[in-house]
Amino acid sequence: MTDNIYSLIIDTDPGIDDAAAIFWLLSDKRFDIKAITITHGNIGVNGCAMNALRILEIAGKGDIPVYKGARKPLLKCPVAATYAHGMDGLGDTDLPFSANKVADGWAPSEIIRIAKESSRKITILAIGPITNIAIAVLSAPDLPNYIERIVFMGGAVRVQGNITTAASFNVYSDPEAAEIVYKSGIPIVQIGLDVCNLFRFHVNDFNVLAHVSNSVAQAMVKMARFRLAQIGVSMNKSVADYDSIALNDVAAAAYLINPGWFSVEEAEGEVVMDGLCRGMTLLDFNVGKGCKGNIIFAADADSQAAVSGWISAIAGFGIKGQR
Ligand code: RIB
Ligand code: CA
Repeated sequence: MTDNIYSLIIDTDPGIDDAAAIFWLLSDKRFDIKAITITHGNIGVNGCAMNALRILEIAGKGDIPVYKGARKPLLKCPVAATYAHGMDGLGDTDLPFSANKVADGWAPSEIIRIAKESSRKITILAIGPITNIAIAVLSAPDLPNYIERIVFMGGAVRVQGNITTAASFNVYSDPEAAEIVYKSGIPIVQIGLDVCNLFRFHVNDFNVLAHVSNSVAQAMVKMARFRLAQIGVSMNKSVADYDSIALNDVAAAAYLINPGWFSVEEAEGEVVMDGLCRGMTLLDFNVGKGCKGNIIFAADADSQAAVSGWISAIAGFGIKGQR
Protein backbone atom coordinates (compact mmCIF):
# COMPACT_ATOMS: atom_id res chain seq x y z
CA MET A 1 0.00 0.00 0.00
CA THR A 2 1.26 3.50 -0.85
CA ASP A 3 1.60 5.90 2.08
CA ASN A 4 -0.22 9.17 1.60
CA ILE A 5 2.24 12.01 1.81
CA TYR A 6 -0.21 14.88 1.68
CA SER A 7 -3.49 15.54 3.41
CA LEU A 8 -5.04 17.80 0.85
CA ILE A 9 -7.95 20.18 0.44
CA ILE A 10 -8.60 21.40 -3.10
CA ASP A 11 -10.22 24.84 -3.19
CA THR A 12 -11.47 25.33 -6.71
CA ASP A 13 -13.86 26.87 -9.26
CA PRO A 14 -14.16 24.08 -11.84
CA GLY A 15 -13.27 25.01 -14.70
CA ILE A 16 -11.69 22.95 -17.52
CA ASP A 17 -8.17 23.26 -16.15
CA ASP A 18 -9.41 22.68 -12.62
CA ALA A 19 -10.81 19.37 -13.88
CA ALA A 20 -7.47 18.53 -15.50
CA ALA A 21 -5.62 19.29 -12.26
CA ILE A 22 -8.08 17.41 -10.05
CA PHE A 23 -8.01 14.31 -12.28
CA TRP A 24 -4.21 14.22 -12.00
CA LEU A 25 -4.23 14.38 -8.20
CA LEU A 26 -7.01 11.79 -8.01
CA SER A 27 -4.81 9.45 -10.02
CA ASP A 28 -2.01 9.61 -7.47
CA LYS A 29 -2.45 7.57 -4.31
CA ARG A 30 0.03 9.71 -2.38
CA PHE A 31 -2.71 12.32 -1.93
CA ASP A 32 -5.34 11.92 0.74
CA ILE A 33 -7.94 14.35 -0.60
CA LYS A 34 -10.04 15.33 2.40
CA ALA A 35 -12.47 17.60 0.57
CA ILE A 36 -13.10 19.75 -2.44
CA THR A 37 -14.19 23.23 -1.43
CA ILE A 38 -15.91 25.44 -3.96
CA THR A 39 -15.59 29.12 -4.65
CA HIS A 40 -17.16 31.52 -7.14
CA GLY A 41 -14.83 31.98 -10.10
CA ASN A 42 -15.05 30.65 -13.61
CA ILE A 43 -18.84 30.44 -13.20
CA GLY A 44 -21.12 30.87 -10.17
CA VAL A 45 -20.56 28.82 -7.04
CA ASN A 46 -23.58 26.55 -7.66
CA GLY A 47 -22.40 25.61 -11.15
CA CYS A 48 -18.84 25.13 -9.90
CA ALA A 49 -20.11 22.78 -7.17
CA MET A 50 -22.09 20.82 -9.74
CA ASN A 51 -18.95 20.56 -11.86
CA ALA A 52 -16.90 19.24 -8.95
CA LEU A 53 -19.50 16.50 -8.47
CA ARG A 54 -19.35 15.73 -12.21
CA ILE A 55 -15.55 15.51 -12.12
CA LEU A 56 -15.59 13.16 -9.13
CA GLU A 57 -18.30 11.01 -10.72
CA ILE A 58 -16.31 10.67 -13.96
CA ALA A 59 -13.25 9.66 -11.92
CA GLY A 60 -15.23 7.18 -9.79
CA LYS A 61 -14.38 9.15 -6.62
CA GLY A 62 -17.86 10.24 -5.56
CA ASP A 63 -17.00 9.57 -1.91
CA ILE A 64 -14.89 12.74 -1.62
CA PRO A 65 -17.04 15.47 -0.05
CA VAL A 66 -17.73 18.69 -1.95
CA TYR A 67 -18.52 21.79 0.15
CA LYS A 68 -19.92 24.99 -1.31
CA GLY A 69 -18.34 28.26 -0.18
CA ALA A 70 -18.26 31.94 -1.09
CA ARG A 71 -20.67 32.93 -3.83
CA LYS A 72 -18.94 36.28 -4.31
CA PRO A 73 -15.68 38.08 -3.53
CA LEU A 74 -15.26 39.81 -0.14
CA LEU A 75 -16.06 43.31 -1.42
CA LYS A 76 -16.79 43.48 -5.14
CA CYS A 77 -18.93 41.70 -7.70
CA PRO A 78 -17.94 38.27 -9.06
CA VAL A 79 -15.92 38.11 -12.30
CA ALA A 80 -16.70 35.09 -14.48
CA ALA A 81 -14.55 33.37 -17.11
CA THR A 82 -17.22 31.77 -19.30
CA TYR A 83 -15.24 33.10 -22.29
CA ALA A 84 -12.60 30.47 -21.47
CA HIS A 85 -14.63 27.68 -19.89
CA GLY A 86 -18.05 27.87 -21.56
CA MET A 87 -21.39 28.67 -19.97
CA ASP A 88 -21.34 25.46 -17.90
CA GLY A 89 -17.68 25.86 -16.93
CA LEU A 90 -16.66 22.53 -18.46
CA GLY A 91 -16.64 23.57 -22.09
CA ASP A 92 -20.38 23.10 -22.70
CA THR A 93 -19.68 19.44 -23.29
CA ASP A 94 -22.17 16.69 -22.65
CA LEU A 95 -20.35 15.40 -19.60
CA PRO A 96 -22.76 13.52 -17.34
CA PHE A 97 -24.26 15.16 -14.28
CA SER A 98 -23.85 13.44 -10.94
CA ALA A 99 -26.75 12.29 -8.78
CA ASN A 100 -24.58 13.07 -5.74
CA LYS A 101 -25.28 16.15 -3.68
CA VAL A 102 -22.93 18.67 -2.12
CA ALA A 103 -22.15 17.86 1.51
CA ASP A 104 -23.65 19.79 4.42
CA GLY A 105 -21.30 22.48 5.62
CA TRP A 106 -19.85 25.78 4.43
CA ALA A 107 -16.45 25.62 2.75
CA PRO A 108 -14.57 28.13 5.00
CA SER A 109 -15.87 26.38 8.14
CA GLU A 110 -15.02 22.98 6.71
CA ILE A 111 -11.49 24.11 5.87
CA ILE A 112 -11.05 25.10 9.53
CA ARG A 113 -12.65 21.90 10.86
CA ILE A 114 -10.70 19.56 8.60
CA ALA A 115 -7.41 21.35 9.30
CA LYS A 116 -7.92 21.20 13.06
CA GLU A 117 -9.07 17.58 13.08
CA SER A 118 -6.30 16.30 10.83
CA SER A 119 -3.48 14.33 12.45
CA ARG A 120 -1.16 15.87 9.90
CA LYS A 121 -0.89 19.47 8.69
CA ILE A 122 -3.11 20.18 5.69
CA THR A 123 -1.88 21.33 2.31
CA ILE A 124 -4.35 23.44 0.32
CA LEU A 125 -4.27 23.47 -3.45
CA ALA A 126 -6.02 26.74 -4.33
CA ILE A 127 -6.92 26.98 -8.01
CA GLY A 128 -9.61 29.62 -7.98
CA PRO A 129 -10.14 33.02 -6.31
CA ILE A 130 -9.13 32.52 -2.65
CA THR A 131 -12.18 34.00 -0.92
CA ASN A 132 -12.91 30.81 1.06
CA ILE A 133 -9.40 30.70 2.48
CA ALA A 134 -9.46 34.39 3.41
CA ILE A 135 -12.74 33.89 5.28
CA ALA A 136 -11.28 30.86 7.04
CA VAL A 137 -8.18 32.87 8.06
CA LEU A 138 -10.33 35.74 9.36
CA SER A 139 -12.62 33.35 11.26
CA ALA A 140 -9.82 31.30 12.85
CA PRO A 141 -6.68 33.37 13.45
CA ASP A 142 -4.86 30.22 14.62
CA LEU A 143 -5.54 28.46 11.28
CA PRO A 144 -1.97 29.05 10.00
CA ASN A 145 -0.75 26.60 12.70
CA TYR A 146 -2.66 23.81 10.99
CA ILE A 147 -1.75 24.53 7.37
CA GLU A 148 1.46 23.19 5.88
CA ARG A 149 1.21 25.51 2.89
CA ILE A 150 -1.05 26.79 0.16
CA VAL A 151 -0.11 26.02 -3.42
CA PHE A 152 -1.88 28.81 -5.29
CA MET A 153 -2.44 29.19 -9.01
CA GLY A 154 -2.36 32.95 -9.23
CA GLY A 155 -0.23 35.98 -9.93
CA ALA A 156 1.87 37.28 -12.79
CA VAL A 157 5.22 38.76 -11.79
CA ARG A 158 7.53 38.90 -14.81
CA VAL A 159 4.82 38.33 -17.40
CA GLN A 160 1.51 39.99 -18.24
CA GLY A 161 -1.73 39.04 -16.57
CA ASN A 162 -4.52 37.15 -18.28
CA ILE A 163 -7.47 39.30 -17.21
CA THR A 164 -5.74 42.69 -17.15
CA THR A 165 -2.20 43.63 -18.11
CA ALA A 166 -1.18 43.42 -14.47
CA ALA A 167 -3.36 40.74 -12.94
CA SER A 168 -4.18 37.07 -13.19
CA PHE A 169 -7.80 36.00 -13.02
CA ASN A 170 -7.65 34.26 -9.64
CA VAL A 171 -6.16 37.28 -7.86
CA TYR A 172 -8.10 39.94 -9.78
CA SER A 173 -11.36 38.17 -8.90
CA ASP A 174 -10.79 38.89 -5.21
CA PRO A 175 -7.66 40.95 -4.45
CA GLU A 176 -8.83 41.71 -0.90
CA ALA A 177 -9.01 37.99 -0.15
CA ALA A 178 -5.62 37.37 -1.74
CA GLU A 179 -4.03 40.11 0.35
CA ILE A 180 -5.46 38.60 3.56
CA VAL A 181 -4.08 35.19 2.66
CA TYR A 182 -0.70 36.57 1.52
CA LYS A 183 -0.35 38.37 4.86
CA SER A 184 -1.65 35.46 6.97
CA GLY A 185 1.77 33.95 7.59
CA ILE A 186 0.80 30.69 5.88
CA PRO A 187 3.60 29.60 3.51
CA ILE A 188 2.39 30.15 -0.05
CA VAL A 189 3.74 28.62 -3.21
CA GLN A 190 2.82 31.03 -6.00
CA ILE A 191 2.30 29.14 -9.22
CA GLY A 192 1.60 32.14 -11.39
CA LEU A 193 1.37 32.77 -15.09
CA ASP A 194 5.19 32.99 -15.08
CA VAL A 195 5.20 29.18 -15.14
CA CYS A 196 1.63 28.39 -16.21
CA ASN A 197 2.36 30.02 -19.57
CA LEU A 198 5.06 27.38 -20.12
CA PHE A 199 2.58 24.52 -19.77
CA ARG A 200 1.29 23.96 -23.31
CA PHE A 201 -0.94 21.03 -24.23
CA HIS A 202 -0.70 20.27 -27.90
CA VAL A 203 -3.53 19.03 -30.08
CA ASN A 204 -1.50 15.86 -30.68
CA ASP A 205 -1.55 15.15 -26.92
CA PHE A 206 -5.33 15.07 -27.09
CA ASN A 207 -5.28 12.98 -30.25
CA VAL A 208 -3.35 10.41 -28.20
CA LEU A 209 -5.87 10.58 -25.37
CA ALA A 210 -8.75 10.24 -27.85
CA HIS A 211 -7.63 6.64 -28.41
CA VAL A 212 -7.76 5.82 -24.71
CA SER A 213 -11.08 4.45 -23.50
CA ASN A 214 -11.10 5.50 -19.83
CA SER A 215 -13.79 8.02 -18.88
CA VAL A 216 -11.32 10.60 -17.57
CA ALA A 217 -9.33 10.68 -20.82
CA GLN A 218 -12.57 10.91 -22.82
CA ALA A 219 -13.80 13.80 -20.68
CA MET A 220 -10.50 15.66 -21.11
CA VAL A 221 -10.68 15.19 -24.88
CA LYS A 222 -14.18 16.68 -24.98
CA MET A 223 -13.12 19.70 -22.94
CA ALA A 224 -9.94 20.16 -24.97
CA ARG A 225 -11.97 20.06 -28.19
CA PHE A 226 -13.93 23.08 -26.89
CA ARG A 227 -10.71 24.97 -26.08
CA LEU A 228 -9.05 24.06 -29.37
CA ALA A 229 -12.12 25.21 -31.30
CA GLN A 230 -11.68 28.62 -29.68
CA ILE A 231 -8.32 28.93 -31.44
CA GLY A 232 -9.71 27.48 -34.67
CA VAL A 233 -8.08 24.06 -34.38
CA SER A 234 -9.95 20.83 -34.84
CA MET A 235 -8.57 17.54 -33.62
CA ASN A 236 -7.28 14.77 -35.87
CA LYS A 237 -5.54 17.06 -38.29
CA SER A 238 -1.92 17.74 -38.95
CA VAL A 239 -1.06 20.78 -36.91
CA ALA A 240 1.59 23.32 -36.12
CA ASP A 241 3.54 23.56 -32.88
CA TYR A 242 1.57 26.55 -31.71
CA ASP A 243 -1.73 24.64 -31.92
CA SER A 244 -1.83 24.15 -28.21
CA ILE A 245 -3.82 25.26 -25.21
CA ALA A 246 -2.99 26.32 -21.68
CA LEU A 247 -4.38 24.49 -18.65
CA ASN A 248 -3.07 26.79 -15.92
CA ASP A 249 -4.26 24.88 -12.87
CA VAL A 250 -2.35 21.79 -14.02
CA ALA A 251 0.88 23.66 -13.26
CA ALA A 252 -0.18 24.06 -9.63
CA ALA A 253 -1.02 20.36 -9.39
CA ALA A 254 2.36 19.60 -10.98
CA TYR A 255 4.11 21.30 -8.07
CA LEU A 256 2.46 18.83 -5.69
CA ILE A 257 3.18 15.86 -7.93
CA ASN A 258 6.88 16.75 -8.28
CA PRO A 259 8.28 20.03 -6.91
CA GLY A 260 11.59 19.07 -8.53
CA TRP A 261 10.14 20.21 -11.86
CA PHE A 262 10.23 23.83 -10.63
CA SER A 263 12.87 26.48 -9.96
CA VAL A 264 11.74 28.71 -7.13
CA GLU A 265 12.73 31.96 -5.46
CA GLU A 266 11.81 33.19 -1.97
CA ALA A 267 9.94 36.45 -1.65
CA GLU A 268 7.49 38.49 0.34
CA GLY A 269 4.25 39.28 -1.40
CA GLU A 270 1.68 42.00 -1.53
CA VAL A 271 -1.43 42.45 -3.64
CA VAL A 272 -2.21 45.78 -5.30
CA MET A 273 -5.74 46.99 -4.53
CA ASP A 274 -6.24 50.06 -6.67
CA GLY A 275 -6.05 51.49 -10.12
CA LEU A 276 -4.82 49.85 -13.27
CA CYS A 277 -2.75 47.36 -11.28
CA ARG A 278 -5.61 46.10 -9.09
CA GLY A 279 -5.06 42.40 -8.48
CA MET A 280 -1.36 42.47 -9.34
CA THR A 281 0.94 40.39 -7.12
CA LEU A 282 3.98 42.42 -6.19
CA LEU A 283 6.89 40.37 -4.89
CA ASP A 284 9.93 41.62 -2.98
CA PHE A 285 12.85 39.24 -3.42
CA ASN A 286 15.10 40.94 -0.85
CA VAL A 287 14.75 38.16 1.66
CA GLY A 288 17.35 38.50 4.39
CA LYS A 289 17.35 42.27 3.98
CA GLY A 290 14.21 42.88 5.94
CA CYS A 291 11.55 41.06 3.96
CA LYS A 292 9.94 37.79 4.98
CA GLY A 293 10.25 34.83 2.67
CA ASN A 294 6.78 33.39 3.09
CA ILE A 295 6.14 33.27 -0.66
CA ILE A 296 7.83 30.58 -2.69
CA PHE A 297 7.63 31.99 -6.21
CA ALA A 298 7.80 29.50 -9.08
CA ALA A 299 10.07 31.21 -11.60
CA ASP A 300 10.65 28.43 -14.10
CA ALA A 301 9.61 24.84 -14.73
CA ASP A 302 10.43 21.77 -16.75
CA SER A 303 6.98 22.00 -18.25
CA GLN A 304 7.59 19.36 -20.91
CA ALA A 305 8.31 16.72 -18.27
CA ALA A 306 5.28 17.80 -16.26
CA VAL A 307 2.95 17.81 -19.29
CA SER A 308 4.18 14.32 -20.22
CA GLY A 309 3.49 13.22 -16.64
CA TRP A 310 -0.04 14.60 -16.87
CA ILE A 311 -0.75 12.84 -20.17
CA SER A 312 0.51 9.49 -18.79
CA ALA A 313 -1.61 9.89 -15.66
CA ILE A 314 -4.75 10.69 -17.64
CA ALA A 315 -4.12 7.91 -20.16
CA GLY A 316 -3.56 5.41 -17.35
CA PHE A 317 -6.30 6.69 -15.06
CA GLY A 318 -7.69 3.92 -12.86
CA ILE A 319 -5.17 1.35 -13.97
CA LYS A 320 -4.14 -0.78 -11.02
CA GLY A 321 -0.67 0.04 -9.89
CA GLN A 322 -0.97 3.70 -10.87
CA ARG A 323 0.68 5.52 -8.03
O1 RIB B 1 -9.64 31.71 -16.66
C1 RIB B 1 -9.04 31.82 -15.41
C2 RIB B 1 -9.43 30.68 -14.57
O2 RIB B 1 -9.04 29.53 -15.27
C3 RIB B 1 -8.82 30.55 -13.20
O3 RIB B 1 -9.77 30.11 -12.25
C4 RIB B 1 -7.81 29.51 -13.33
O4 RIB B 1 -7.62 28.86 -12.09
C5 RIB B 1 -8.40 28.68 -14.39
O5 RIB B 1 -9.37 27.81 -13.94
CA1 CA C 1 -9.48 27.45 -11.53
